Amino acid sequence: MQLNIFKNKQVLVTGGLGFIGSNLSKRLLELGAEVTAVDSLIPEYGGNLFNLADSEDRLRINVSDVRDEHSIRYLVQGKDFLFNLAGQTSHLDSMQDPDTDLEINCRAQLSILEACRRFSPDIKIVFASTRQLYGKPDYLPVDERHLLRPVDVNGINKMAGEWYHILYNNVYGVRASALRLTNTYGPRMRIKDARQTFLGIWIRLILERRPFEIWEGEQLRDFTFVDDCVEALLLTAASEKTNGQTYNLGGECIISLLDLGKMLVEVNGGGEFLLKSFPPERKRIDIGDYYSDWNLIKETLGWTPSVSLKDGLIRTLAYYRQNLPHYL
Ligand SMILES: NC(=O)c1ccc[n+]([C@@H]2O[C@H](COP(=O)([O-])OP(=O)(O)OC[C@H]3O[C@@H](n4cnc5c(N)ncnc54)[C@H](O)[C@@H]3O)[C@@H](O)[C@H]2O)c1
Repeated sequence: MQLNIFKNKQVLVTGGLGFIGSNLSKRLLELGAEVTAVDSLIPEYGGNLFNLADSEDRLRINVSDVRDEHSIRYLVQGKDFLFNLAGQTSHLDSMQDPDTDLEINCRAQLSILEACRRFSPDIKIVFASTRQLYGKPDYLPVDERHLLRPVDVNGINKMAGEWYHILYNNVYGVRASALRLTNTYGPRMRIKDARQTFLGIWIRLILERRPFEIWEGEQLRDFTFVDDCVEALLLTAASEKTNGQTYNLGGECIISLLDLGKMLVEVNGGGEFLLKSFPPERKRIDIGDYYSDWNLIKETLGWTPSVSLKDGLIRTLAYYRQNLPHYL
């Protein structure tokens, strides 16, 4: 599919200073788009000015909160595409502070869509949803027909956020699609702590020559390298077939957390981990094994993950070896 559709297009990326949003913004610049990255830069989340520091003169950065209806009303106007990635991403935080998760992942999504309906009805939206909607899988791999039964507050609010997008597509014709992302990793993710992903803190600790913790280790997961995720977001936005649809993303291999830890040590050329049991507050919201069936997006758009887990980890470690202080 032709990604030159983005040339000279006005594109808004919410969460644009975050992990996936910044990688996407940089790729959009390569494709000739006029990019506005909006982000609240709340310190506990993944936004980081360094993520777009080398592109600052080629795009607009707008530091605002998607909960601010006035900002959003202004920002969506005149835009051709909206990649709606701003979110509170920590599952544990969503249990400890459910109201904030509700405000950002649910209520703000509705007001973003209302702003689009009223002030930018021709915009095409792609929403970053999550595999967390499925909860503990009844079967593997999980396809899009699997029951939605989230195990935490974050999953419920993201589910509402996703369905508001589909509703606005179906009822008002504001074109919208959603991708249900699995564990996504790569340069520019938050590694300060485990808020965004456990892999983040593993990478920080291994580079600091400290042991990282693997909990239980038997769980199966799939991983998407961020460039593959960005490709999927772009392909979804560029196609009319995707309107009103949701698609799983996935990875090229399925791996246990223990084997992932071993692979990380191997590609790093050394490192140590400790096998521990799950902390009880995490166990309560754990989903067990998960990996996704991503045949639907493959059949519809020809998307497949192209970066192997090993190569992705090598590229990720190389990035943080060079830029570690900006992420601590
Ligand atoms: N990374 C993954 O593995 C993964 C998996 C499933 C779903 N997702 C979804 O993808 C999206 C992007 O995630 P990410 O991994 O890049 O995380 P991230 O935390 O790096 O990105 C989210 C960005 O949104 C910004 N943000 C949060 N609240 C905001 C607000 N109220 N107003 C404006 N900006 C705000 C944050 O500052 C951050 O930069 C999220 O919606 C997340 O739920 C990510």
